[in-house]
Amino acid sequence: MTSPGPKEPSAVPTSAVPPFGALQGVKVVYSAVEIAAPSAAALMAEWGADVVWIENTRTGDSMRDTVNVKELERRNQRSVALNPFTDEGREVLLSLIADADIFVESSKGPTYARRGITDELLWERNPRLVIVHVSGFGQYGVPERVNRAAYDLTVQAYSGYMAQNGTPEQPMAAVPYVGDYFTSLMVVSSALAALHRATATGEGESLDVAMYEVMLRIGSYYLMDYMNDGTVYPRPGPRHPNLCAIGEYRTSDGFIGLCIYGVKQNKYLLERIGLGHLWGTEDYPEDTSALWLDGPQAPLIEAKIEEFCLTQKALELEKEFSEAGLAANAVLEFDQVLAEEHLAQREAIVEWKRQDGSNVKGIGIVPKFARNPGQIWRPMPDLGQDTDTVLTEAGWTPEEISRLEDNGTIRRS
Ligand code: COA
Repeated sequence: MTSPGPKEPSAVPTSAVPPFGALQGVKVVYSAVEIAAPSAAALMAEWGADVVWIENTRTGDSMRDTVNVKELERRNQRSVALNPFTDEGREVLLSLIADADIFVESSKGPTYARRGITDELLWERNPRLVIVHVSGFGQYGVPERVNRAAYDLTVQAYSGYMAQNGTPEQPMAAVPYVGDYFTSLMVVSSALAALHRATATGEGESLDVAMYEVMLRIGSYYLMDYMNDGTVYPRPGPRHPNLCAIGEYRTSDGFIGLCIYGVKQNKYLLERIGLGHLWGTEDYPEDTSALWLDGPQAPLIEAKIEEFCLTQKALELEKEFSEAGLAANAVLEFDQVLAEEHLAQREAIVEWKRQDGSNVKGIGIVPKFARNPGQIWRPMPDLGQDTDTVLTEAGWTPEEISRLEDNGTIRRS
């Protein structure tokens, strides 16, 4: 077989992907590892898309090296072990995207185009395809930068995101893997925006998702002040860079996260920490909505909050402040989070079965669609478990599949 064209939906028996969710009928093919691009596919799989996961024939996706998180990040997907970077592999890839809606790849810069898999080639086979290129630094720009390998940590470092986190002495990455997970959300949202347009026009789209740009966009709140006014806020450590009463404070038994803002809230706080006499003065008039860190009594206010919190139990203070309309939450450790009745009632944590039949606990479907709920319909498959089925659906004969396996283009489990 050389070039199977787009097929009728009913031309071959469909796979076991059950019809459910807002994305039922949407086919996503991705070729990527770890989190940034694959977690976008993972979300779409939970919302009902048919997700084909192309894995390296030699090693599989490096996500397989994890013990538990892979079960969350690769459930509901079909694994095809395929090397798309040979002549035959490219043909197989083209057959897989022929009836796909979205193709996501992640690599160093324009790796796919360099290896002959250009947008134009993909569109020749499927003109309405939405193509998403995920990379650390984009598909074009300074070549030395574009071609670099990238992970969460390095894009946080490059984008100025990391420089905003940590203590004044020590920048720190925000964890866990926020550069990857924010990218995933950008991939999902931009791919679906492009799909909306492609459905209307019949014309596909190509997206250049540079991880560092995602972090630049997400991390731009204070950058805007710097760009426009030259303002630099100190790296805040556990506190807000320019407001009092926002941050993580030590209590007698742990920590509490406070985010106190607003007139009523400030009055309550000042009275509670023994500084009620400041309220209604020239320094803090009765309409003070923000307790600025450069305000006249800011060091005193911060010192009093710290002193006060040390006399309180985190959960009790959370309750008191919440009842008074102040935003506060005890900083929960994992065991406390999982014990929360609220999570139980919302089925935020669920259990499903791994491929070997053992149980795995993880996060349920987020968000909750009222009319088209997501589902967990299968565990993470073995490497190449679905190569046969997916290639058969794409029109390849058993003989051709065996030949592709023999010459190393594909692998079956
Ligand atoms: N089958 C067979 N071989 C495959 C393959 C497949 N499906 N997919 C990739 N390969 C090959 C590549 O051709 C490459 O071969 P080469 O060494 O001969 O060039 C090799 O496997 C390594 O692939 P590559 O993806 O380049 O791995 P890497 O370890 O050098 O880089 C990343 C990995 C993730 C750093 C890089 O792909 C990257 O920067 N991606 C964009 C950003 C990103 O997604 N980062 C991860 C966030 S979680």
